[in-house]
Amino acid sequence: METGSRPAPTSPDLIVGLIGCGIMGRGIAQIAVLSGARVRLHDGREGAAAAAREELIATFGKLADKGKLDAGAAKQAGERLEVCAGIEDMAGAHVVVEAIVENLDAKKALFASLEGIVAADAILATNTSSLPVTAIAAGLKHPERVAGFHFFNPVPLMKIVEAIGGFLTDPGVVDYLLALGKHWGHTAVRAKDTPGFIVNHAGRGYGTEGLRLLAEGVASVPTLDNILRDTAGFRLGPCELLDLTGLDVSHPVMESIYHQYYEEPRFRPQVHTRQMLTAGALGKKVGHGFYRYGADGKKETIAEAEQPTAKPGSVWLSQERPELAERIAVLIAAAGITQESGDRPSESALCVVTPLGEDATTCCVRENLDARRTVGVEALFDASRRRVLMTTPATDAQYLAMACGLFGATGTPVSVIRDSAGLVSQRVVAHIVNIACEIAQQGIADPQDIDRAVTLGLGYPLGPLAWGDQLGPRTVLAILKNLEQQTGDSRYRPSPWLQRRALLGLSLHHKEI
Ligand code: NAI
Repeated sequence: METGSRPAPTSPDLIVGLIGCGIMGRGIAQIAVLSGARVRLHDGREGAAAAAREELIATFGKLADKGKLDAGAAKQAGERLEVCAGIEDMAGAHVVVEAIVENLDAKKALFASLEGIVAADAILATNTSSLPVTAIAAGLKHPERVAGFHFFNPVPLMKIVEAIGGFLTDPGVVDYLLALGKHWGHTAVRAKDTPGFIVNHAGRGYGTEGLRLLAEGVASVPTLDNILRDTAGFRLGPCELLDLTGLDVSHPVMESIYHQYYEEPRFRPQVHTRQMLTAGALGKKVGHGFYRYGADGKKETIAEAEQPTAKPGSVWLSQERPELAERIAVLIAAAGITQESGDRPSESALCVVTPLGEDATTCCVRENLDARRTVGVEALFDASRRRVLMTTPATDAQYLAMACGLFGATGTPVSVIRDSAGLVSQRVVAHIVNIACEIAQQGIADPQDIDRAVTLGLGYPLGPLAWGDQLGPRTVLAILKNLEQQTGDSRYRPSPWLQRRALLGLSLHHKEI
């Protein structure tokens, strides 16, 4: 493709066409024009482009008032915004970004019309989040100039953009969009044209595994959310997040990605959210979903169960994993309880195991312990804000109360869950790491870009591959193998990317020659 007449991404001569001035179009226009480009706005709805221009100028004024933007720069940015009555006015644009309705036929028709209007080397970029770029480009005279340019809402704050090459896209077009996104102040990552690209693909693990834990009866809704927030460091629990997004949006996305990957079990949704959707329990926007919300939009407060004060006379702690036992021994000492030193527990001791990817039952049976007196404790994830205890199906209520009293003695809340290979956080994070490994394995994106995209796009405390490295690839592999073996579900089959790096002792960021 001839690129001679397309100015550099940094050039003040660059003209960007923006079609569809809704929430996304306005956001993209804002960062483009503030980075020095001239931006032409068009919307199919009469008056929408002019209204978007006015709103953007008002935003620039507010930014200037707050001292975040120079007053002169704010005025000039407004002058670089132009309203176009029809798409014919896109004739001089070097890059046209569409952010119209998410409909394949509408996007195809728009690009087909633009082909006859813009210059031969103008780029046609789509902000689609769920349609294949290849499908939008198919049938055009010049599909090689069509690429995805996928921003996140709100665009000025979510500083990540995915540049996506379709099957026929010229790689130079993606390179140009990467440079453009970077110039506009975003981290720009390259992704292959696959369902969900990077962020919405990598994000499939969190909600679906959370829902799976609910379906298995491992934890209640607030318990699940509390554990993932407090021990793994997610900003919101999966149910809180689903409530915020709205099940009318997130359930169809879960189903769509699952089907687009030909029923890949790793992405399998659960029946529960389909029923909630049918019942209209969409989440915060309607006042009820997993939680109830007040008229002010505030989530109901669910009080934690009162902490038992009973304490065990003595505790026997499994030494199968000395590094994990050491962490738990500190908590037992802080509660002022005697830890037994013998190989076998005494007659009435509370028995504590530290499962790593296993359930409490398996640990209990392997060590030949009395299941009625045994609990598992989460020892891999942060215990400073919450402790997680896991019962076997035989655990006695009295012993559980003593375990709660022991681990809650210093005032830290204790959550109790039912038996689950990998408890909650080990299991959810292992699943997320595995999906990211598979994204790397399939060459959808570079390992570093996967982590960058996920931290910026989803706000996870760590990129999934870095997280896997921190936990240890072998540990993640062990969790997944146990889950696969216990459930018989290929959902948990470990990605070859993970297996090989774990076996060789390599980082999950390691790329082959
Ligand atoms: P929106 O509904 O806020 O805005 C769409 C705008 O496009 C409206 O102003 C509408 O009048 C206009 N429009 C619709 N059909 C048109 C056509 N054929 N020609 C010209 N204008 C047309 O939608 P939103 O949320 O801004 O989404 C736009 C695109 O961005 C969609 O493809 C969506 O999937 C994608 N996207 C949305 C995100 C979000 O969080 N809202 C995130 C990332 C991508």
